[in-house]
Amino acid sequence: MIERSYKHYSVKPGTIYLRGGDPNFATPAHIRDAAIKAIIEGYTHYAPSEGIPELRDAIANYYSKYGVKYDPDQIMVTAGGSPALHMINVSMLEPGDEVLVFDPSFSRYFSEPPTLGAVVKPVPLLKPGFHLDPEDLKANISEKSKMIVLCNPNNPTGTVYSKSELKAIADIAIDNDLIVVSDEFYSEFTYDDIKHVAISSLDGMSERTFVLVGGTKMFNFTGWRLASLILPKEYYKIVEKKTRFIGVRPATFVQRAGAEAFNAMSTKYGKEVMKEHREEYDRRRSFFCKRIDEIDGINCHTFEGAFYAYPDVSSFGLPVSSFVDELEREEGVLVGNGEGHGGVSVIGEKSPAYGHIRPALVQDVDVLEEAATRIERFTRNIPK
Ligand SMILES: Cc1ncc(COP(=O)(O)O)c(C=O)c1O
Repeated sequence: MIERSYKHYSVKPGTIYLRGGDPNFATPAHIRDAAIKAIIEGYTHYAPSEGIPELRDAIANYYSKYGVKYDPDQIMVTAGGSPALHMINVSMLEPGDEVLVFDPSFSRYFSEPPTLGAVVKPVPLLKPGFHLDPEDLKANISEKSKMIVLCNPNNPTGTVYSKSELKAIADIAIDNDLIVVSDEFYSEFTYDDIKHVAISSLDGMSERTFVLVGGTKMFNFTGWRLASLILPKEYYKIVEKKTRFIGVRPATFVQRAGAEAFNAMSTKYGKEVMKEHREEYDRRRSFFCKRIDEIDGINCHTFEGAFYAYPDVSSFGLPVSSFVDELEREEGVLVGNGEGHGGVSVIGEKSPAYGHIRPALVQDVDVLEEAATRIERFTRNIPK
């Protein structure tokens, strides 16, 4: 049932592209059909700025599976996850505010707050599995702390936070009156029977948690630009007021297709499509993490969620940016620089992201096998 699609990145012919989190799957056919039908039926006019009601309903219904029931009018439809993060940041952050960001996690959490005068405090995740010691979070709290940003499952480490870790984060947030941003873009992609837990489902948390619910990665929607933000009632008006003029909303027919996508998640068919994608990612992770970890000098844990490997290549003594560039030039494998998804720019070598690359497992296993062979050859040729 899974269909593959082709990408249009401008890389040299023969290069294996594992840099961006843009999977080689097509958007499922029933969702594409819904978009085409919406265009034909004339859903080509302005939509309400917060999103069309049928999509907001569909997202509220979908998210209730995590044990928290939101009103559809707490949901804002956004043109992807990046605008959703931007909307939270511009609405909530003042110069001097401190933002606690787990290190490593998605690059934008580190790069955007400083543009608003806020200060990022990286909170280390612990190797090898990149889980949290809550004491490290506590140690970084100050009077200026405003927000904790959580990516669950985590891009790039694949950490799926356990209920007890989330409870510890929740207790700290409540004790210190902090808001929590919970980016749950990869909530459908957890493996080994590990279940996604929504931090907003814990006592006292729905009123202080801003949730990012994907379309982007869940439905292979990367180019469609559709995601959403679930807001505590208390903050909805603030975000609405501060972001009214941004106008970054998905096209009306894309929203119609989004409603189809989220509604299908309560049908046998939609669940089956998602299961096939999850199983395919699982095959890729089981193969690639083990294969890469076996290469002399590389350490790669087997991640629990999302679809990124996060190998440590520091033992080769090359700056990661050179490792990435030379790997592309010499062997035609393009991977992400894993240090960008961490606090290396803030705390340097002390950041757990130091020395990591991030291959996104967005290609089939046979392609990943070839990529691993090339990476191995490349590392053997690095002068000692
Ligand atoms: C955790 C996470 N949040 C947000 C985004 C941004 O999403 P979008 O591409 O929809 O802007 C990404 C993209 O990779 C992501 O991994």
